[in-house]
Amino acid sequence: MEVMVTISRREYARRRRALLHRMAPGAVAVVPGAGVFPSGSGLEAAFRQDSDFWYLTGFAEPDAVLALRRGREAAGKGGDQDEAILFCRARHAREELYEGERLGPERAAKALGLDAAHPTAELDERMVGLVGAASVLHCSLGEHPGFDQRLSGWLAQARAKHSRPAEDILGLKPLLHELRLVKSAAEIALMRRAAEISVQGHLRALRACRPGLTEGDLEAELLYGFLRGGARAAAYPSIVAGGANACVLHYMANNEPLKKDDLVLIDAGCEYEHYACDLTRTFPVDGRFSGRQRALYEIVLEAQRQAIAACQPGALFDAPDAAALAVMQDGLAGLGLYPPADERPVKVPPERPAFCPHRTSHWLGLDVHDCRGDRPDGVRTLEPGMVLTVEPGLYIPPGAQAVPKKWRGMGVRIEDDVLLRAEGPEVLTQGAPKQVSDIEGVMAHG
Ligand code: GLY
Ligand code: MN
Ligand code: MN
Repeated sequence: MEVMVTISRREYARRRRALLHRMAPGAVAVVPGAGVFPSGSGLEAAFRQDSDFWYLTGFAEPDAVLALRRGREAAGKGGDQDEAILFCRARHAREELYEGERLGPERAAKALGLDAAHPTAELDERMVGLVGAASVLHCSLGEHPGFDQRLSGWLAQARAKHSRPAEDILGLKPLLHELRLVKSAAEIALMRRAAEISVQGHLRALRACRPGLTEGDLEAELLYGFLRGGARAAAYPSIVAGGANACVLHYMANNEPLKKDDLVLIDAGCEYEHYACDLTRTFPVDGRFSGRQRALYEIVLEAQRQAIAACQPGALFDAPDAAALAVMQDGLAGLGLYPPADERPVKVPPERPAFCPHRTSHWLGLDVHDCRGDRPDGVRTLEPGMVLTVEPGLYIPPGAQAVPKKWRGMGVRIEDDVLLRAEGPEVLTQGAPKQVSDIEGVMAHG
C-alpha cells in the first residue's frame, strides 16, 4: 500500500514565518487564492488552487485570501506580533449540498494553524484597515486583474479615511519564490511520487505503442497511468507528437495516426498533491530506431547526460544548458548540419543552433515552470534541494530546405527532473527508459 505523504501544518507555519522574516516591520503581504470560473452550465471547471497561496496555507477552497502582517518590532514584546489572517467562504448549507463541505472561518484558524480567520464578506472592511496601516505592501500585481482592482479600492478607501497607506508596493514573488526554490524533505517526497506515477504512465504508453494507433491512444495510456497511480490530473496538457509534429514544441492536438517510420515524442507528467512532474521521452513508433533516428537521438541523449552531470551545487543555472549546447553543436557538426568546431567563433555562452531553439532547464515544483528565480542571464547558483528539468532537444522542421531530406521532420527531446543534492544530481524520473537498447527492449518484450 502506498504511504500517503503530505505537508504538515507545522511546515506551512514554518513557510509563513520564513516569509514574514523577509518582510520589513509593519509590512503586509496579500496573497489571493484562485477563484472559480463558472462554465455557464452550472458545473464549475476543475478548480486548482493558486500555487503561492497553497504554499503558504495548504487550503484548497476557492475565493480565499491570506494576509500576513509583520509585527512592528519597535512596539515591543507582546504588543505587536506577526499575524497570519485568512479570509474564506462562510458555511452555506445549500451551496455545500452541491460543492461539498466547507471549512468555514469558525474552524479554519485552528485547522490551518493561523492567527485568525474571517468570512470573505468582511474582506473589504478589514483589508482597508490592514493595508491602511502597512509600512510596505507585498503583492503580485497583474496576475488577477479583478483582485488588483479590489486592492486599489482598499488603498483609496484607506486614504479617504486619512490613514497613510504604504507608499511602497513591492512584489511578493521575489521573497516567496526564494523559499519555494529550495524544496523540503516533504516536498521532495511528493515530487518523487509525482515522478514515479508519471514514469508508470510513460511505460504504459511505451508498451502500447504500435503503428496504426493515434497520438490520442497513447495520451489515453498516459492519463490512465496517472489516475491509477493516485494523481488527479496531468500537470500540463500532454504532448504526444508523432513524426514532424514533434517540431511543434507545445503540440497538443494529439489526434493524428502514428506511422511506422516515425518517432513519437511524449512530453507528459502528472500533478500529485499539487506538485508537478515534467517528463519527455522520444521513441520509434515501430519499436526499432532506424539509423537516422538513432543518430539524432544519441546526440540528444549525450547532451542530456552531460547536462545532468553539470547539475552540481555551486554551478550556475546555465551550466547544464551550456554543456548540452556544446554536445549538440558537435553532434550536428558530425552530421554535416552545423559548422565544424574550427570554423565556429568561440562564444560564451555557446551559440544556440537553430535546431536547438529552447533552453535546457527550468525550475520545477508546485508549477511546471516553477518560480521566478532563474535570472535571464543565468547567474543563479544551484543549491541542494532545488529541482530543475534537464531537457535538451533537436528539432529539424519539415521545411528545413538547407538540410538533406532524410533529416527533415524529426524532433527529439529527452527530459528528466533533477534534484540537486550535496553529493550531486539525482534524477527523479530515472525509471523511464531512455537508452536505445532499453527502449527497444521494453517495446519488444513489455
Ligand atoms: N512540458 C513543458 C516543458 O517541458 O517545459
Ligand atoms: Mn516537458
Ligand atoms: Mn519542461
